[in-house]
Amino acid sequence: MRILGIESSADDSGVALIEASGDFGKDFRFKVLMNEVASQQHAAYGGIYPNVAKQEHLKNLPLLLDTVRKAHPERPDVIAVTVGPGLEPCLWAGITTAQKLAAGGPPAGGAPVVGVNHLEGHIIMSLMDMSEKHEARSGKREQIRMHAFEFPVLSLLISGGNTKLVLSREFMRYEVLGETRDDAAGEAFDKIARTLGLPYPGGPHISRLAEEARSKKQESRTKLPRPMLHEGNLDFSFSGLKTAVLRAVERNGGKDALGDTLRMQLAREAEEAIADVLIGKTLRAVEEYGAQTVVTGGGVSANSFIRKRLADALAEVDAKLLICPPGLSTDNGLMIALAGYFHALNKEFTDPAALVANGSLKLA
Ligand code: KG4
Repeated sequence: MRILGIESSADDSGVALIEASGDFGKDFRFKVLMNEVASQQHAAYGGIYPNVAKQEHLKNLPLLLDTVRKAHPERPDVIAVTVGPGLEPCLWAGITTAQKLAAGGPPAGGAPVVGVNHLEGHIIMSLMDMSEKHEARSGKREQIRMHAFEFPVLSLLISGGNTKLVLSREFMRYEVLGETRDDAAGEAFDKIARTLGLPYPGGPHISRLAEEARSKKQESRTKLPRPMLHEGNLDFSFSGLKTAVLRAVERNGGKDALGDTLRMQLAREAEEAIADVLIGKTLRAVEEYGAQTVVTGGGVSANSFIRKRLADALAEVDAKLLICPPGLSTDNGLMIALAGYFHALNKEFTDPAALVANGSLKLA
């Protein structure tokens, strides 16, 4: 089956084409024929403006589709498109693109459509064995398989819009165990970065400065809180952390007066506070639910410090960590094509005209 995946839930426009066969536990395998991503530039605004981002998607998606069509003019068997969660104007850009494709003439006209939950896309992406030799983006067309793993699977989803711990006792069944009560982990990185005078998106900038601080043995004298770490539940809260950084910056004369040393020390402390909370809660959930496997996905899982800390912590409790290469942790069309494939196998098609963007779509 050839699946065209379309992603536009935040600021990355993604289009991918895969060829997949088999089923979960029954010789599933796939090839990446194309995986094209256009990332928007929102640094000048310090964040994403949904309607600006939507216009960018409407410009980018047809260009990406043209690239795919030129290389693979044959009709895909299925069109998979993200329907939520995310920014609704952005989601609509992908949905209307899918609707036009499905209703139009060749090459995609008449192909059935599947609506995909973005978070399920991240989870399924991390289940795939995308080790270096498979280089999804290089289009080498190797057969890729799923990792071998055991249930229950715990998923730690950490992105700009979501922070959730999700349990799966079987493939594609989800129970949300905990989530953020205010800001998402990525949002915390972005807001703290802005407070420190760093550009958007802040995660990679904080990560770079924190790395530098560690290599120079620079530690912050201000200790930041680890919100909700010791509460007996699996929820998160990051807004207090952001406020604590703001107070520390104010005490030092504001972001323009912050020296490079203090900035890097605070970046390190903030990254370590976020990592402590994410990893502490993940370990609690592993223990409470006897998870054999932990999957992580979403933009924040591209963070090298968090990846390393998570790998070390899970090795100690004998749980297997599944994580995709950093380039596939952020949003892309490949993850949507993959999730779409399994829904298409179950014949979960939607009338294209009935597709609706749902900004707060739940994992079910
Ligand atoms: O999953 P994603 O690409 O988009 C959605 O939010 O759906 O995640 C984007 C988020 C941003 O908040 C960004 O700052 C964060 O992921 N991020 C990182 C890193 N790379 C991206 N956060 C920490 N460290 C990174 N290396």
